[in-house]
Formats: sequence, structure tokens, C-alpha cells
Amino acid sequence: MCSLNQSHVISHRRNPQLQFPISPPISMPKIPKFSAVSVSKPLHISSIGTFGFGSLQIQTKRRSLIKAYDADPSGGEGAIEKAEAARKVKIGFYFATWWFLNVIFNIYNKKVLNAFPFPWLTSTLSLAAGSLIMLVSWATKVAEAPNTDLEFWKSLFPVALAHTIGHVAATVSMSKVAVSFTHIIKSGEPAFSVLVSRFILGETFPMPVYLSLVPIIGGCGLAALTELNFNMTGFMGAMISNLAFVFRNIFSKRGMKGKSVSGMNYYACLSLLSLLILTPFAIAVEGPQLWAIGWQKAINEIGPHFIWWVAAQSIFYHLYNQVSYMSLDEISPLTFSIGNTMKRISVIVSSIIIFRTPVQPVNALGAAIAVLGTFLYSQAKQ
Ligand code: 3PG
Repeated sequence: MCSLNQSHVISHRRNPQLQFPISPPISMPKIPKFSAVSVSKPLHISSIGTFGFGSLQIQTKRRSLIKAYDADPSGGEGAIEKAEAARKVKIGFYFATWWFLNVIFNIYNKKVLNAFPFPWLTSTLSLAAGSLIMLVSWATKVAEAPNTDLEFWKSLFPVALAHTIGHVAATVSMSKVAVSFTHIIKSGEPAFSVLVSRFILGETFPMPVYLSLVPIIGGCGLAALTELNFNMTGFMGAMISNLAFVFRNIFSKRGMKGKSVSGMNYYACLSLLSLLILTPFAIAVEGPQLWAIGWQKAINEIGPHFIWWVAAQSIFYHLYNQVSYMSLDEISPLTFSIGNTMKRISVIVSSIIIFRTPVQPVNALGAAIAVLGTFLYSQAKQ
């Protein structure tokens, strides 16, 4: 019997087409067969064919069934229902935590960037905070360190490069335009995914997927055209971030063959490698001299507690990403994709309220159409 650990494959958290090997169908009377299998953490980041959402949903469901059986081997249906209910509560908790952490990150990130407009340094600090948290967690055995080899790091490199570009581009964007605008444009990520897959990789999609791009592109376009504080760097930063994240998904699909790393540790390794990639560029583009002057100015304007804003944006960046990676252990890519869309809505709405961003009705309409299109896209991909 193949272990669940060995059959569980993950490519990347934001990729709505996460790849999972086709699992045998669930058969209720055979539940005891699985009970000897460890279903705890390790995810195997593996090579990638195209598998549907269904296999992951089966996988996730099967895990619940196994847990139900383990908890109460004689409980039958009742135990399974309880496990299902517990799983739903857990997913709800993951989503609420993910969105909450993401909103806090975006607010502090923008507060920092308003006072200290150095997006390359703030991006670097986000990655540094995550790397430090995980190194300490591994050293103190709070978290188990991953077992990696050179091949793992080599295959992680293009993923980390794309992650770095996507992260710094989004931060540059947010340093130039309203947080809400960056996220409206970022809701167009599925359009980039389909276009790159179609025109660069030659993949085809069902017609509803192409049709869902109409509201995504139209809505983003309308929002961009009617944005009161439009800025080309801000717009292009969000667009580049979308493109980079699509390539990150493709590279992670291609590169990570047969590696066993948990979602949390995978993101930790990604942070470490991205930090190494980004640091020299941050020094070259902005550099310590400008940082020192900018820092002093920010402290004079905001006060000594400015440092807590920087700490908050850095730590919350790591935490929201970590929770989103961990949530993939429990939810299907489709659920994840819908969750990500809902996340954008919470960030857009809360940032408009907190920063009192002026929004024209037609601009809000564009945003709503774009987000609706993203939702339709996730449905069409199903
Ligand atoms: C970043 O800085 O990496 C972006 O803000 C990420 O945005 P997302 O996680 O909402 O795609």
C-alpha cells in the first residue's frame, strides 16, 4: 500500500492547479486499511502532470476519514460526520486567520511605505523576518527542520527568483499607489496564468475559462482607467507581480520532484533563498546611505514606535504566507483559489476604510467586476 505521505504532492500554494496524484477512490468499509498510515505533515513536492481538483478533494476527505477512524474505530458514520464538521471548523479558522494576517500585513506595509518609501528594503525585511523566525524555530526544535539536499535547493531557485520578483514588484506597487488599487490589479492574476499557459506553454482550456477572463481584464481595465491616483510604476509593479507569480507556479510545478517538505518548511526555504537573492539587489537599488537618511526622517515624523510598524509588516508577511501554505494541507486548490479572492476583497475593503482612499463609483464597479471574474474563473477551472 502506498503511504499517503508518498502520494501527497504539492506544487505551490497560489497555483489553482496544484498537482496531486490520482488516489484510489474512498471506500468506506476499507477505512481501517488507511489507519496505519501517518497522515501528518510532510507534503511531497513532486513533479507535475495535470491532475484535477477532484483527487485532492478525495485526498483531503480521505484524511478526515482516517482521522475519524483513528479517533473512534467503532464509531462508523457518526465519527466520520464529526470529523467532517471538525475539518470545516478548521478550514474556517485557517481562512479567518489567513485573511486577518493579510489585512494586518497590508495595513502596516502601507503605513511603513508612506513614511519610509523604500520598498526594496521593506521587502527584504519581510523575508528576513520569516527566515529568522524559521531558523530559530528549527534551532530550538519548535519546528522540525526539513531534510533537504542540493537538488532541492537547485530546483527551488527559479521558484524563489520568481517569488522575489513578485514580492518586490508588489511592494514597489504599494509604495506608489493605494493598497486597494494594487490588489484590484492583483486580482487579475488568473488572466496572466491562462495567457501564459496558452501562449507560452501551449495549454488549452475550456471556453468558460476564457470567458471568465473578460470580466477580469475588463474590470481591472476599468478600475485602472478610473483610478484617481493612478501611477504607472504602481500599475506596472502589480502587473509584474502577477506575471512573476504565474512563473513561480510553473517553475514549482516543473522543478520539485519527489521532495518531502512540509508546507510550512517549504515556505521557510523559499523565504531563505529569496532573502539571499534579494539582499544584494536591495543594496544596489536603494542602499544603506538612503536607508539611513529615510529611517531618520521616518523616526522624526512618526516617533520611535515606527520600528514596531516595520516589525509588524515583516512578521505579518511571514505569518500570512505561512498560514496560507499550511492551509493547503487541508483544503482543495479550488477552495484555496476562492479563499484568495475573498482575501483580496477583505484587503481592498479594509484598506479603503482605513486609509480613506477616495473611490469613484465607476472605479468600485471595475473592482467588483474584476473580483467577480476571478470568482467565475475559479468555478470554470473546476
Ligand atoms: C507581496 O508582497 O508578496 C504581495 O503583497 C503578495 O500578495 P498576495 O500574497 O496577496 O498575492
